[in-house]
Amino acid sequence: MSLSSRHLLGLQGVPKEDIQLILDTASTFREILERPIKRVPTLQGKTIVNLFYENSTRTRISFELAEKRLSADSVNFSIGQSSVSKGETLKDTIKNIEAMKVDIVVVRHSAAGVPNFLSRICSSNIINAGDGIHEHPTQALLDMYSIREKFGKLAGLKVCIVGDVAHSRVALSNIFGLKTIGAQVSVCGPSTMIPKFIEELGVNVIHNIDEAIQENDVLNVLRIQLERKAREYFPSIREYANYFGITSERLEKNGKDILILHPGPINRGVELSSEVADGLNQVILQQVTNGVAVRMAVLYLLGTLN
Ligand code: CP
Repeated sequence: MSLSSRHLLGLQGVPKEDIQLILDTASTFREILERPIKRVPTLQGKTIVNLFYENSTRTRISFELAEKRLSADSVNFSIGQSSVSKGETLKDTIKNIEAMKVDIVVVRHSAAGVPNFLSRICSSNIINAGDGIHEHPTQALLDMYSIREKFGKLAGLKVCIVGDVAHSRVALSNIFGLKTIGAQVSVCGPSTMIPKFIEELGVNVIHNIDEAIQENDVLNVLRIQLERKAREYFPSIREYANYFGITSERLEKNGKDILILHPGPINRGVELSSEVADGLNQVILQQVTNGVAVRMAVLYLLGTLN
């Protein structure tokens, strides 16, 4: 079994069989992460560059660990220590990196479409680690893995994505992936943060968070992106927390044992209360662990395609 594409640019249009293959392969690697020696020789001899033009804690470390666990040679690029500050273009940067004979490029960039652009000018396999407000496919895959781990299935489950859907690459990748695999997807948030086209993607809109809790099996709660001017879309953070924040009182009032996901980093007291963020309903740190296994699966499946 192999993937139908040599790049992972997003989950839009990725066939169900590819998603299932990644999740099933991740299960094998997840088991390796529990061993005393968490290393397999699968990608020995392969060179992977992590090209991060935007800050990251989870995704960058997770990819780097996944590469090391697969015995690949891994190189990190951070914009601050690169020649980008001297005016080098993205195209020149990638061409110079590729001239050093790399096999896979993992890229994060604030501009939507950069991974797609690189896939057209590079001979390496390109993996999107988050491009602007477009897609974050490995985040959605690890979210799907974590939901499947809890419920044993994805098809037929009701998943609601809560928060700033309009500016979220995590939301879009989750919508594409979950819909393809047969889950029922809804979104909930202030109307200023719900894109007008969302229903065309087969997604229901819920404006009341209590209704969202009552009707769904899973809430995937997005971070309010304060660095992307999210404050302009609601009157105050306090008001957002009052209307859409997930608190234990809210969960208890609705009598629901709902599964709560969050991609991180969390704004405690805004989208999640600290009690919920550390409580029994959430699987936030399991998502992070599963992320290493999912990224190992993606790297393995693309790295052995060549
Ligand atoms: N979830 C996520 O993408 O986190 P980072 O920005 O820390 O990588």
